[in-house]
Amino acid sequence: MKMILGSLRQYKKDSLLAPAFTALEVIMEVLLPFITAAIIDEGLGKGDLQKVCLYGVLMTAMAALSLLFGSLAGKYAASASSGLACNLREDIYGNIQTFSFSNIDKFSTAGLVTRMTTDVTNVQNAFQMVLRIAVRSPLMLVCSMAMCFLISPGLSAVFAVAILFLACVLALIIRMTLKVFDQAFRKYDDLNAEVQENVAAMRVVKSFVREDLENSKFSKSADGLYRLFVKAEGLLAFNSPSMMLVVYSCMIAIAWLGARSIVSGSMTTGELTSLFSYVLSVMMSLMMLSMVFVMITMSAASIRRIREVLAETPDLCSPVNAIHEVADGRIDFNHVTFCYRHGSGRETLSDVDLHIRSGETIGVIGGTGSGKSSLASLVSRLYDVDSGSVCVGGQDVRRYDTDALRSQVAVVLQKNTLFSGTILENLRWGSEQATEEECRQACQAACADEFIQCFPQKYSTRIERGGSNISGGQKQRLCIARALLKQPKILILDDSTSAVDTATDAKIRRSLSEHTTRTTKIIIAQRISSVQGADRILVLDDGRVNGFDTHENLLRTNAVYREIYESQKKGTGDFNRPSPSMKEGA
Ligand SMILES: Nc1ncnc2c1ncn2[C@@H]1O[C@H](COP(=O)(O)OP(=O)(O)OP(=O)(O)O)[C@@H](O)[C@H]1O
Ligand SMILES: [Mg+2]
Repeated sequence: MKMILGSLRQYKKDSLLAPAFTALEVIMEVLLPFITAAIIDEGLGKGDLQKVCLYGVLMTAMAALSLLFGSLAGKYAASASSGLACNLREDIYGNIQTFSFSNIDKFSTAGLVTRMTTDVTNVQNAFQMVLRIAVRSPLMLVCSMAMCFLISPGLSAVFAVAILFLACVLALIIRMTLKVFDQAFRKYDDLNAEVQENVAAMRVVKSFVREDLENSKFSKSADGLYRLFVKAEGLLAFNSPSMMLVVYSCMIAIAWLGARSIVSGSMTTGELTSLFSYVLSVMMSLMMLSMVFVMITMSAASIRRIREVLAETPDLCSPVNAIHEVADGRIDFNHVTFCYRHGSGRETLSDVDLHIRSGETIGVIGGTGSGKSSLASLVSRLYDVDSGSVCVGGQDVRRYDTDALRSQVAVVLQKNTLFSGTILENLRWGSEQATEEECRQACQAACADEFIQCFPQKYSTRIERGGSNISGGQKQRLCIARALLKQPKILILDDSTSAVDTATDAKIRRSLSEHTTRTTKIIIAQRISSVQGADRILVLDDGRVNGFDTHENLLRTNAVYREIYESQKKGTGDFNRPSPSMKEGA
């Protein structure tokens, strides 16, 4: 709660003004029935018209003031709660930007989106209600009760009993609804995750003709949510009739007892009239209070979920006195062991010991899940190693400023994305100041220029969200060009030419080696033809180094490599689908 309120910042003043004006509004409202009583008793009762007029003017003035205070309170409450929501969203978003890959792994995308939208809205509504009603109701309750006791302590005992009954009913209702709301919110999360997953993967859904199945799955979830909300709201609906029952019972009791008091002369008619108003206020306050309570508890789940994101601290930080310059493109893996879940014992990379000279071109080959992408992500410190160390330019990557390191180590990720915007805008993610000519050169090096020139708007062509309006191979080439614009000392291509044909693949490799002679290049690929020309080739097998040598030497010494080479040359099988001869031989 403290953490959430910490996001109030510039809206602190508004969130104090709102309850202050509410208090003034309540005071006005509480005094009004008192004046009604005076009009009846002193004015009408004694036939004094002047007094009636005087009190009438006073009443109008007070009602006007109450209106003014009420609207001011409403305005400040709205400003404070919307401001809180805005700040919360900014804080959550800001914190997400500092997350490392392993932080991101902990939250699902849908979970983060729900937290920034639905959960924040819940907190906003609850906060607004708290500012208005949580101050108003107790104040109204206390003041009205005080007035009742002032008028007639005996009669007030009537609704003391009523309040007790009402409190019991409300407590029961709240207890039952909260459980249902809790379930409903969890269902909400699942529903959002389903929508997010299906909309994002719409093309896959369509290509597998799964629309009907997905529709029925969604209907089932939506139906479940509907049932839960109906159940919760149905329980809440008991609130109103039980309230009415109590109010009217009180009225009857007070009317009966009050009439007798008037007859016996211990109470005036005006007093009885105002007593009715106060009793109504007391009951209304109680009902409002119960609603606030439900609302707060409903938002408690949201608060917890928001706090989870805000409290998440990035687990990769730049050290103090960080190094800002990467000397050269040398890479050393010193007996590196790495797990995605630290301490889980499930090693993704085991005892990897590699030494790569600056400017060398290294090919990496290995089966699916053998740890190629994981190896690449350690070089730019997207994750930290469990034991051993990764050095770039002769220094441990943990000693670098992470931004400085990543600007020198360009990784074209296996699952890469382009953003909505023009081609030029996308390329400038690599280097903000890059001129159009520099962008063109990078595209030429990545063999992207040729297809961009075929677009009518060339470099100003708009790319849709996620690059959905260009082909997979075109996207890959743009991603390579974007990385080249960084002019990095180390360039890692993670399966970055998998979607281009073999001829273009060869052309890109040739072009890259011409354009980036001094850059250390790590080329991860499935095809041996893609890495064959590299200075040395690393064969990874289940997270371990199986071989690390030139193509010719590996062909002579490494049985696995030779088998794959043979099978791919014949055009049968690849690394993951070994030819029958390999199964026997290996
Ligand atoms: N973010 C992650 N969290 C947990 N485990 C992961 C994560 N990413 C990968 N893994 C696991 O680590 C292992 C190695 O994955 P990695 O992506 O490095 O393989 P790869 O060699 O790049 O495979 P591919 O050829 O399919 O790209 C796999 O068993 C995978 O399940
Ligand atoms: Mg991979």
